Amino acid sequence: MTEDEQKQMAAAAAVEHIKDGMVVGLGTGSTAAKMVDLVGARVKDGLDIIAVPTSEATAAQARGLGIKVVGLDEVSVIDLTIDGTDEVDPQMRLIKGGGGAHLREKIVASLSDKMIVIAENKKMVDQLGAFKLPVEVIPFASGALLPKMEALGAEPAIRMNGDEPFRTDENNLIIDCAFGKIEDPEAIALTLSLMPGVVEHGLFIDMADLVLIGTDEGVKSFEKAE
Ligand code: A5P
Repeated sequence: MTEDEQKQMAAAAAVEHIKDGMVVGLGTGSTAAKMVDLVGARVKDGLDIIAVPTSEATAAQARGLGIKVVGLDEVSVIDLTIDGTDEVDPQMRLIKGGGGAHLREKIVASLSDKMIVIAENKKMVDQLGAFKLPVEVIPFASGALLPKMEALGAEPAIRMNGDEPFRTDENNLIIDCAFGKIEDPEAIALTLSLMPGVVEHGLFIDMADLVLIGTDEGVKSFEKAE
């Protein structure tokens, strides 16, 4: 089975959790895009939902599929958010932001009653950190923050888009931090959160309620312990 097929399986399993009347957070990335396509198909079949997208790209995709899209200020509750991930560990801690959308993704997930994470098998890791941790920073601070990231044990690099620095939907920059292994994700998350100039990092801790992984043996499901 290809990785694309695994993503599709996970996306299909997640979409089954969407019910009429829900406000649904729509994630960003290639796996989330498959999920949005499936939501669009269900909307065409009569599913009645409102969606809060986590990026301009997802908003455009959802609108194109006829899904009703609103901003965060237009809803009082988000029932369910479905999003992809770059890594997930056995404690259901995530690294996100490979697509540069983790700021809005984290805001939407934090306001959601439930977050379902969907991914292909290779995203499951024993320890976070092989994927470079994306950290969104304000442009003014970016140069000054590089040595701070180094002091944390990372090799930092400003993400580029061709010859220009990559810009997020909020017009900020991303510093990708190569840690290799992140021994203490909670400590790194807290340190980064307290750093002036850091807008948001890609560690999602204690946010995922259900992880659905597409594998050759079917969809594996991991639920947060109550
Ligand atoms: C977007 O910034 C990310 O958080 C994505 O959700 C994550 O990178 C997963 O993307 P793929 O599904 O494309 O691997």
